[in-house]
Amino acid sequence: MQNHQRLLIIDFGSQVTQLIARRFRELSVYCEIHPFQNVTEEFLKKFKAKAIILSGGPASVIEKKSPKPPKLVFELDIPVLGICYGQQVMMAMLGGNVDKGIGTAEFGRAYVQKTDNEILLLEGWFETEQEKVWMSHGDHVSKIAPGFEVFGTSDNAPFAIIANEERKLFAVQFHPEVHHTPNGTKLLENFCKIAGFSRDWTITGYREHAIAKIRDEVGDKQVICGLSGGVDSSVTAVLIHEAIGEQLTCVFVDHGLLRKNEAQEVVKMFRDNYNMSLIHAEEQELFLNKLDGQDDPETKRKIIGRLFIEVFQKYAKDIKDAEFLAQGTLYPDVIESISFDGGPSDTIKSHHNVGGLPEKMGLKLIEPLRELFKDEVRLLGTDLGLPKSFLGRHPFPGPGLAIRCPGKITKEKLNILREADAVFIDQIKKHALYDEIWQAFVTILPVRTVGVMGDARTYDYACALRAVTSVDGMTADYYPFEHNFLAETATRIINEVTGINRVTYDITSKPPGTIEWE
Ligand code: XMP
Repeated sequence: MQNHQRLLIIDFGSQVTQLIARRFRELSVYCEIHPFQNVTEEFLKKFKAKAIILSGGPASVIEKKSPKPPKLVFELDIPVLGICYGQQVMMAMLGGNVDKGIGTAEFGRAYVQKTDNEILLLEGWFETEQEKVWMSHGDHVSKIAPGFEVFGTSDNAPFAIIANEERKLFAVQFHPEVHHTPNGTKLLENFCKIAGFSRDWTITGYREHAIAKIRDEVGDKQVICGLSGGVDSSVTAVLIHEAIGEQLTCVFVDHGLLRKNEAQEVVKMFRDNYNMSLIHAEEQELFLNKLDGQDDPETKRKIIGRLFIEVFQKYAKDIKDAEFLAQGTLYPDVIESISFDGGPSDTIKSHHNVGGLPEKMGLKLIEPLRELFKDEVRLLGTDLGLPKSFLGRHPFPGPGLAIRCPGKITKEKLNILREADAVFIDQIKKHALYDEIWQAFVTILPVRTVGVMGDARTYDYACALRAVTSVDGMTADYYPFEHNFLAETATRIINEVTGINRVTYDITSKPPGTIEWE
């Protein structure tokens, strides 16, 4: 996106920095988040931002080693908006003062009162004399820098909105990017007006730029792409295929832990519709043999992760002139991998991905979705002609059914699980609930229970249905099915799936549960 007007968001570690990017993308303005550590004077000169946002963050400018942007930010003669910590750091660097917020901290809802001063940033913003905003700050600005004026005040933040219009420097103590500041987008929209953004960033434009960039980068070399059939890797593959056609080879690793008909559907769709060079790596036996007898969740995950890389390497090494590895990394993945304080977080589950592969294989990474959010990837997929049914599919974990089969994995259990899962999903689709649910699946339990069918005793497996709503998989709520739906589904599973005689519904939220059972 080199030649597009760009907004630079300098991240000081706020929990909601991503939302700033979201809001600007919604306004059709292209923006990128970069952690403050990376933003040097040189970076700024190269980036050529049309405007800059300084995000919020957990640090205190009163501390000696608090993070700061280069001074050049304020000397580029472009609009700069400081939010929360961004406001405080702007004041501290330009000659104002920031104090510890003893008794003046504000967390949550607050009201900003209008002053007599008018400013374009607030055009159409105050619907009444005061506007509801969301605050989250301990420190506060106690003296504004020379040249600044006050345009809004709140009980605990006398300098809630300040600006030096001549220098195009603006700063707010609250967070305009969150939904709890209902009119926040208006303020950001006005900021775009001030900066003169043409607001023409579209997904079709993105597609064209991305294709040109891929062609330029790859030249006449070959690209390998690990295709899982999920939305991200599928869109990546189709986009790259459109750019370089036969220079792309996809590798689809079938580890024997896929859902009913999944492998056939994915392979058919890519071979038939896209005429793509696709290796279907049928390695079911390898994976299942290595998993035989294993019942510890982490051990299973590690075995699968390791084998996946081995298998991928085995097939990829025969592709001549392969110089690039394509991955469907999304923007949130990029941001989450930047830890503000570098503190280790607890490993709940070792997630399966192909990280580490490019270095091991001496390949260069190509990640054409790195700048997109999930819903933008779906839009791009639609633009590229991928069927809606494919783009709207529920997420499926890399280790597949292995983590939906607690305890030891056997072929028999996997087959039962596949059938039960297919019935559950069919029910959900029939009742038009699929799109309302983030993820739905069956887990086969490592217990057998006694039942009675047709006057005869049965001794078969129990299974648990799981369906959750979620925005990003980080937190989740169980889906509140009607009792009739659950009863009908249980009856169908027991009647149609040999090997299951008891069905339960998992009503645990995340936290304290996780979405998958292992
Ligand atoms: P948990 O079970 O951690 O799952 O609440 C959150 C989301 O992540 C998916 N998941 C995975 N996805 N590799 C993946 O690509 C994995 O190893 C993995 N483990 C869990 C899970 O299906 C849910 O959407």
